[in-house]
Amino acid sequence: MCGITGFTGKSRALPFLLQGLEKLEYRGYDSAGVTLVGTEELKTWKEKGRLSVLEEKLDIAHCPQRCGIGHTRWATHGIPSNLNAHPHNNMDNTISIVHNGIIENYVELRADLEAKGFVFASETDTETVAHLLDFNYRETGNMRDAVYATIAGLEGSFALCIVSCYDPETIYVAKKENPMIVGKTGDAAFCASDATGLLSLTKDVLPLDDGQIAILKPGSIELTDFAGKALEQNWIHIPYDMEAAQKGGYDSFMMKEIHEQPDAVRETLRGRFDKNDRIRMDEIDALEISWERLRRVYFIACGTAYHACIYARTLFDRYADIDSFVMPASEFRYGTPKLDADTLCVFVSQSGETADTLAAVKLANEKGAATAAITNVLGSSISRTADVTLYTAAGPEIAVASTKAYTTQIVLLICLIMKLAEKTGFVIPDYAHLVADMKRLPQILTEILKLEDTVGQLADMLKEQRDAYFIGRQLDYPTALEGALKLKEVSYVHADAYYAGELKHGPIALIEKDTVVVAMATQPEVAAKTMSNIQETIARGARIILITDSTIPAERFEYVLRVPAVREELAGIAAVVLLQLFAYFTAKEKGCDIDKPRNLAKSVTVE
Ligand code: AGP
Ligand code: GLU
Repeated sequence: MCGITGFTGKSRALPFLLQGLEKLEYRGYDSAGVTLVGTEELKTWKEKGRLSVLEEKLDIAHCPQRCGIGHTRWATHGIPSNLNAHPHNNMDNTISIVHNGIIENYVELRADLEAKGFVFASETDTETVAHLLDFNYRETGNMRDAVYATIAGLEGSFALCIVSCYDPETIYVAKKENPMIVGKTGDAAFCASDATGLLSLTKDVLPLDDGQIAILKPGSIELTDFAGKALEQNWIHIPYDMEAAQKGGYDSFMMKEIHEQPDAVRETLRGRFDKNDRIRMDEIDALEISWERLRRVYFIACGTAYHACIYARTLFDRYADIDSFVMPASEFRYGTPKLDADTLCVFVSQSGETADTLAAVKLANEKGAATAAITNVLGSSISRTADVTLYTAAGPEIAVASTKAYTTQIVLLICLIMKLAEKTGFVIPDYAHLVADMKRLPQILTEILKLEDTVGQLADMLKEQRDAYFIGRQLDYPTALEGALKLKEVSYVHADAYYAGELKHGPIALIEKDTVVVAMATQPEVAAKTMSNIQETIARGARIILITDSTIPAERFEYVLRVPAVREELAGIAAVVLLQLFAYFTAKEKGCDIDKPRNLAKSVTVE
């Protein structure tokens, strides 16, 4: 998972490459590099660390080259270092490549190439591709044939950009299981790992499919399969602009995105209710499945999106008399899921590129299950692989810690459950009331955001802590999980989430004087039970931050935050905003890099 940019045209390449890498840095940021192609030679610069370190080393104003490639890395093979940073070149410095993904047969390839006399400079899997291109160039005598021969010899996943002195105006772009988008103007052609890297030049883009090679020359793009057969080009228009991807006055993308939630939810719900307030989901109508035979539903995702799936499965199970399961994608694909034509698999992914989730979709497709994706990124790999796709309309989410994607995912999952009720005949109690409250969600989220200052003060309690505990029952449990994940990710405070009733079966051993416990009690049916569990922790010295609904009595507690009056099925959507804010303020107090937490990347496109 990394960011790639490429440019060939009649103007200087470097400014485009760097602005694109800046947008894509969220995809990986342990090193950065560029290669510029001159008429005589290639020039490559690469540096360990953030893009800014590379930029300091470049004499940007004096780089006239009009063709080049760039990369921000998230290491899979070989530690982050200058040598392992991309681009990787052949020994003569005449061919240069950047790569996103993993070359699975690199050990064999490397041994074979070393036996032929090729000398490697790095520990990466990627470098094998540079030498293999060199070998094939010597064999075929031209770059185009060398590219096709090389791609044919690679196993694993890759988005690759290749430039050379032999073909100085051309960028060869190949894609298999990692994202790559290309675009052009009258006299230039360019590419990037996602559309934000291209938006400065165009909104009309061509997302490559697996098994495609695009050949970029100034002003033109040729598209073929890996065998060289010409392919039809399916261009799409990106509906948002660059401004949407800027911080807009906030000190971090995370805070901006937390505040965008009322709008993001409003946009996600747009057009989802017809004039009789029944749910509208043409995508599900288009699914080829015999609804009366539907036997089971799987909800599958990773990380935050997986928590949204736990929320959805809990709700689905409450309403429907159909077997349902929730699984992390990384387990689903290696487990023994029961998949057949009477199974519906729902996949959730903000980026639409998560490798584990994508592989799970492919597995479900192979086994003949119906597949529906929920994703935030138009034209993403998962959207192109599932039978149907429902889009959250959260807009680009740049902060590595997911916030607005989560709330919009839950909203869309609830819409999906309402649609499944219609299709399969289970009943959602007081449906009209639920619809009315869903329509009020943007307003409810605006209200909950007013508690920002209070959360900011309470977060003081967390910044000195080594550990924190989040507890809740039923629908409060996924919210607790998500709150703990957010805190860990951005503030590095160790946090665990438990079903409130499970605490006494072990974890309570860790509670001591002044341990912070964030307790969720937004579900009236189980609130009294949760309150007893909270008392058990108070008896051991814990300090409680209680998040509850508008009615449950809580006078005994010092720190109480209340969710505005709303149907209990929706309370978690409001409550989680408070937990996102807790994580944000704790990280800010500790001086952490909120948008780019250590060791993480926005889009996890490796297993
Ligand atoms: C969220 O804060 C995380 N950084 C991470 O868990 C993320 O949700 C997960 O990697 C899944 O990503 P996706 O939604 O793009 O598939
Ligand atoms: N496997 C390559 C490496 O470790 C590419 C990683 C990436 O996608 O950034 O260098």
